[in-house]
Amino acid sequence: MGVDVAIRIRFNVNGRERTATTDPERSLLEVLREDLGLLGTKYGCGEGQCGACSVLLEGKRVFSCRLPAERVEGKSVVTIEGLAQGDALHPVQQAFLDEGAFQCGFCTAGMIIAAVALLAEKPKPTDAQIVAGMNRNICRCCSYPKIIQAVRRADDRKGG
Ligand code: FES
Ligand code: FES
Repeated sequence: MGVDVAIRIRFNVNGRERTATTDPERSLLEVLREDLGLLGTKYGCGEGQCGACSVLLEGKRVFSCRLPAERVEGKSVVTIEGLAQGDALHPVQQAFLDEGAFQCGFCTAGMIIAAVALLAEKPKPTDAQIVAGMNRNICRCCSYPKIIQAVRRADDRKGG
């Protein structure tokens, strides 16, 4: 049986080099929230089922609740806090705001991260592709129609 030993990981978060000393098996979500104070990324299920903990790892959406911290060594992570440019919201953030695509807001950071990843992979998605791309994120308030509308709006904005 192994004994956990704390390791020091170095990775880039929202454009800044960060370090954390942690049990390597601890989740990235815990490191982000508890060690780095980035509270925008939420803990929902802890089982990779709800998407609330979504972040971008090397530009791809991952569920940070299920990702051992050691796996981000030397990599680049973007959280919801890293999307805006100064006072200017990211187009997906702005679209969610404009569409009122949230109620309690608990799922919203994960939804926005998922949408950013989706639109980077599939510019001009069809409605079916938006639904498929967002279907690993759960909204308990059932704001789905407005969320889909916001993703469409963000894509339109990017396009022109
Ligand atoms: S908290 Fe990570 S998928 Fe639900
Ligand atoms: S807005 Fe409440 S969970 Fe989605």
